[in-house]
Amino acid sequence: MKKVITYGTYDLLHHGHVALLKRAKALGDYLIVGVTADGFDKERGKLNVSQSLAERIENVRQTGIADQIIVEEYEGQKISDIQKYGVDIFTIGSDWVGKFDYLSEYCQVVYLPRTRGISSTSLRANAKPTLRLGIIGVDHVAERFFVAGKTVSGMEITAVYDPDPQKMTKFCRGKSTLERYESVEALLADCGAVLINSDPDKHYEHILSALDAGCHVICTPPMFLTLEMAQECYRRADEKGLILFEAMKTLYFPAFEHMLLLVKSGVIGAVKDIDVSCSQVPEQMEQIAKNKYLGSLYDWGSTALMPIIKIYESECTGCDLTSFQKEGFSYFTRGFLHYPNGTASIRVGKGMKVEGELVITGTKGYLYVPAPWWRTDYFEVRTEDLRNVKKYYYSYEGDGFRYMIYNFLYRINNPERYTIQHTRQDVLRATALLERFHKGECTLVELG
Ligand code: CTP
Repeated sequence: MKKVITYGTYDLLHHGHVALLKRAKALGDYLIVGVTADGFDKERGKLNVSQSLAERIENVRQTGIADQIIVEEYEGQKISDIQKYGVDIFTIGSDWVGKFDYLSEYCQVVYLPRTRGISSTSLRANAKPTLRLGIIGVDHVAERFFVAGKTVSGMEITAVYDPDPQKMTKFCRGKSTLERYESVEALLADCGAVLINSDPDKHYEHILSALDAGCHVICTPPMFLTLEMAQECYRRADEKGLILFEAMKTLYFPAFEHMLLLVKSGVIGAVKDIDVSCSQVPEQMEQIAKNKYLGSLYDWGSTALMPIIKIYESECTGCDLTSFQKEGFSYFTRGFLHYPNGTASIRVGKGMKVEGELVITGTKGYLYVPAPWWRTDYFEVRTEDLRNVKKYYYSYEGDGFRYMIYNFLYRINNPERYTIQHTRQDVLRATALLERFHKGECTLVELG
């Protein structure tokens, strides 16, 4: 008996899938179909799948072509499946030509012609109108957002505005789908959503204009400089039924999401202290130091506070900040925070470097996320017995932005459903602490 194996996601099963399954079956006597697990798709960055694993398996089962259906859960599983099931032929559509040649060591590899004019991607795109998203403010963040945006379906980045025409020209190079606009208002009129990536002191004005124009907003941190601004923006978003979302990308990394769940499930006991550090020494530091809103706490504060706020889930009862400044620009800020059940400290640098790690101390052990923790794919749970260190690794695709964009779109399409997002309360708690700094409630140390 000749055994054939093939793999796929089989989302919104279409005639291209059925044709491929028939051709695959015709290659032998027995067909095994591997359907990708949700977690595996997430890990390889395929975030646009609209049906669950159970539904996709049912799609394949109903064709009646497969003799056996298995689940593909991890990278490298194909070799193990081929050996385990005694497979003679591995086959897949011609969109993968060359990618699986390495399997010819284990069985025959056949690339079958793909059916033209149909794909799950096109079906998903037709199911819902594509959201047009504009970008206000271009820099390396906007660049990464643009690249990641292409991998998430349901949205297209169509517009850009920056007050500096030269920067805008540079940004638009090679991006044929992007139209440049001469004003924020003109851009907003043509979009359904917007990434606000301007300097923090412009956020308030831009967020209000976007909401008034009926756009959903994703805004880079810090979204607000004062609580009053935050409350006004949220009030306006509610009035209009729009989503106001902080672009806190770390929160959506698969490893970080799991780390938070582990802490909450008590693996390290009760949390008593959290120590967070982040820093960056950018290339054009001299230029950056001219704008105080790009300084250490403005730039890193929201990110550094995020794990503390997410884990303690209560109001900060005391805060002591010390900032190292020169000509009004903060290069480094150190903060001690008190909470009803524990303490926390942050160290953030811009133009000054610290080891960017995260340590969460609990009564049973501690959780260690190595630098740069805000781009994490790995962490360890350590207890008294150092032979028993538990290591967790979760790969992610691209630079992680796509997970955040996917969550933003998910929120727009499912406003009532829960996601791990930075909640309004979390943002307000971070804003309250940043506002102290903004209003000068901070010990200043002049750098020589
Ligand atoms: N396939 C095909 N013809 C199509 C679409 C898919 O022969 N028009 C084949 C693929 O080559 C693969 C299998 O069907 O062998 C499963 O593909 P899958 O990735 O699930 O489907 P796509 O429609 O390509 O999905 P997407 O658009 O999400 O990439």
